[in-house]
Amino acid sequence: MEKNEFIENLRNLISGEKDETAVLANTAAYIKEVYGWFWIGFYIVRGDELVLGPFQGSVACYRIKKGRGVCGTSWQKNATIVVPDVEDFPGHIACSSLSKSEIVVPLRDSQGEVRAVLDIDSDELATFGEQEQEVMEATARIVEKQIFE
Ligand code: SME
Repeated sequence: MEKNEFIENLRNLISGEKDETAVLANTAAYIKEVYGWFWIGFYIVRGDELVLGPFQGSVACYRIKKGRGVCGTSWQKNATIVVPDVEDFPGHIACSSLSKSEIVVPLRDSQGEVRAVLDIDSDELATFGEQEQEVMEATARIVEKQIFE
């Protein structure tokens, strides 16, 4: 699916709903439907930790400290992180041994503070290139506007 079509559909899907859990749940489900990646979900900032939020995929770790793993590092740096091979990322947290590559994109509030991260794992190496990064960052922009601003 083209980026523009994906983004337009997502906008339609979540417009009119402000509940955090509901919006994150349907966003994860929609990404799963379109792309079919292995694990797609959100970790929510709660104090000094990320806590597991709505996701599609197998059971996952509940809590991740700031600066730990790919998710905690993305939060700390307030930046997207793309990992073509998780074995090359020091401190990667393996929730599943099937996970081979990963992208994590932060979601922010109107002050620019990170409120959640979108974490996507693939069971293949080097799944997330420039295009995938662009689409998932656009996704984060739409979702954060809807629930965190
Ligand atoms: N791999 C992540 C942990 C979360 S799970 O893969 C669902 C990380 O290193 O932050």
